[in-house]
Amino acid sequence: MKKKQIVQLFGLLVFSVSVQAVAKDKNTPLYKDAKAPVEQRVEDLLSRMNLEEKIYQLNQYTLGFNNNINNLGEAVKNVPAEIGSVIYFEADPQLRNGLQKKAMEESRLGIPVLFGYDVIHGFRTVYPIPLAQACSWNPALVEQSSAVAAQEARMSGVDWTFSPMIDVARDGRWGRIAEGYGEDPYATGVYTVASVKGYQGDDMSSDKRVAACLKHYVGYGASEAGRDYVYTEISRQSLWDTYLPPYEAGVKAGAATLMSAFNDISGVPASANHYTLTEVLKNRWKHDGFVVSDWDAVVQLVNQGVAADTKEAAEKAFMAGVEMDMTDNCYQRHLAELVNEGKVPMQNIDDAVRRVLRIKFRLGLFDNPYTKEVKQEERLLLPQSLRAVEQMAEETIVLLKNADNVLPLSGAKKIALVGPLAKNQADLLGSWSAHGRAQDVCSIYDAMTREFAGKADIVYAQGCDFDGENRDGFAEALAVAKNADVVVLCLGEKRGWSGENTSRSTIALPAVQEELLAELKKAGKPVVVLLSNGRPLELVRIEKQADAIVEMWQPGVAGGKPVAGVLSGRVNPSGRLAITFPYSTGQIPIYYNQRPPARKGNQGRYQDIPSTPLYEFGYGLSYTDYKYGTMKLSADKVKRGGKLTVEIPVTNVGGRDGLETVHWFINDPVSSIARPVKELKFFEKQLIKAGETKVFRFDIDAERDLSFVDSDGKRFLEPGDYYIIVKDQKLKISVE
Ligand code: GLC
Repeated sequence: MKKKQIVQLFGLLVFSVSVQAVAKDKNTPLYKDAKAPVEQRVEDLLSRMNLEEKIYQLNQYTLGFNNNINNLGEAVKNVPAEIGSVIYFEADPQLRNGLQKKAMEESRLGIPVLFGYDVIHGFRTVYPIPLAQACSWNPALVEQSSAVAAQEARMSGVDWTFSPMIDVARDGRWGRIAEGYGEDPYATGVYTVASVKGYQGDDMSSDKRVAACLKHYVGYGASEAGRDYVYTEISRQSLWDTYLPPYEAGVKAGAATLMSAFNDISGVPASANHYTLTEVLKNRWKHDGFVVSDWDAVVQLVNQGVAADTKEAAEKAFMAGVEMDMTDNCYQRHLAELVNEGKVPMQNIDDAVRRVLRIKFRLGLFDNPYTKEVKQEERLLLPQSLRAVEQMAEETIVLLKNADNVLPLSGAKKIALVGPLAKNQADLLGSWSAHGRAQDVCSIYDAMTREFAGKADIVYAQGCDFDGENRDGFAEALAVAKNADVVVLCLGEKRGWSGENTSRSTIALPAVQEELLAELKKAGKPVVVLLSNGRPLELVRIEKQADAIVEMWQPGVAGGKPVAGVLSGRVNPSGRLAITFPYSTGQIPIYYNQRPPARKGNQGRYQDIPSTPLYEFGYGLSYTDYKYGTMKLSADKVKRGGKLTVEIPVTNVGGRDGLETVHWFINDPVSSIARPVKELKFFEKQLIKAGETKVFRFDIDAERDLSFVDSDGKRFLEPGDYYIIVKDQKLKISVE
């Protein structure tokens, strides 16, 4: 028999077996057949559903204790068996499995419930806040940490996390800046992809993976003046060149869902914005998952002045492209009526339900609706998880100042450890810390005591509280400082000072903290300031007084261990800022990728303060020194559609190994649409041993890396000169 006939015969055999598999049992509805293709199961189930059952799938209630004080949601005591989804606030799967059993056995079609929760930077093994993660420039660690969170969440009864938060933000007054990856669209996109991969893996049906949710779609980070829940002024141009890119990257990476935002977009609320939710997300990006509204974001359309009542709010949000309504029951109350009135076509309902069912099938919920109930010690705070998140925390730490190499603290025999954060545990968790517990956190004091055991004594004094007028502790703190070789002063923010609804009019720390520093300086000893905070801070006065400044962010359960390692020299700090630290609050907004001003020099500058930030994007010191060699191009001309490479050797000329990140920027000085003075297009972090040289390489794809977008997202690449920039070097390339 000829080869071709054998192949044909084999193909026929495979086909007939697969048909048999699909139709294996006539009594089992196709949607319950785990071997059938997802799309067939979706269509089969959809065809069996009535309107009420369909609408239930488009609603999300809450289940368990609601710990978000900003959302005084009504605990739904009697959650209907047909409900599409709940926000699940418990850390164990029992309650979830009880509701799931009700859904599988008491509802007509046995459609499993989808359990979501805010697993923003860890479930119980809390790792650094996303803003800190972004300063690690290590997407692999972000992916690994997200995988830890996914494993703990899924094994605890949560199938879906409302994360990653990928709102580009530049205003530190906005408390939610803590939850995102900083000011740069490209970097945010890279971290978005890493976290989606960590959460979802290659197969979301795994009992250690969860569905991701890109939020808050879109433009929430532009909330005017850093206030929360308000309006934005975002041009279509800025929408495309700044706020949408991370979402496009996340959708391309396969993110299952998105969450529509509270803010409006220049007058059209994000949760009723057909352009972003349907034209862009569904029609252009072909997203095949679904969009859930933010909490009450549908009913809030009335407050925002675009809906007269809850019924119109339901119609506007649904017809714009929000498939699921979080907690305000607008869809529950009005969608059937709107369908019967012909205002909402049934095909739109079907498309929305199709999207929700598709994600439930991909999560494997129809075939494995229940969470295996294993003991907490078998799924939470696992040793390998703790090691992973400690490494994450180490690489987020940014050394901002180190005068006279006062760090690392070698030789100190007595260390005065002072400040409101010195013995604190809870606030090191940061905002949105899910089921993280203060007792899981190693305080700075405990970490320092262990780190310096046998080398130095740690003597503690609180000195002051986070804020307030009480200076009674100053005298004791000064006495401890006078009696020590060096002072380590732990300042910063409470975890509740950042996150949702925590806007502050200033990014300076409370006066009492700065005054404690001034008081301690009277001891005449070196002062090292450690900062634990959820936003960029105004440090101009602290910078003048501190001999060293270490930005440790809010590290999660690793707590003080990583920073103790930095102070002892065990850890060489490698963090670089992913957010600009302004000279003062008055400079906001200030970010590295601003467009060029009309006038150069000192025109258009502030008359009373510098117009440059205190610490710029990408800034961070190391215990070693790096010498950058000369950038080299493989060619200085490139055709549209062409590629070229640029390399730069970096030598570690210091005395110890270090992790160095090279940030590759481009600049297009002349474009039909003015472009930022520079744009990050690639970054790479490498270990460089003392004395070693490593070559960093950027493979430039002209279309991808040099082009720009217009106000409707159309990418264009214009001929002309472009520059590749690394630190103070820039090389010209010409696009022909
Ligand atoms: C909150 C937040 C959102 C969160 C949701 C559910 O209001 O804006 O980020 O995922 O409600 O808790």
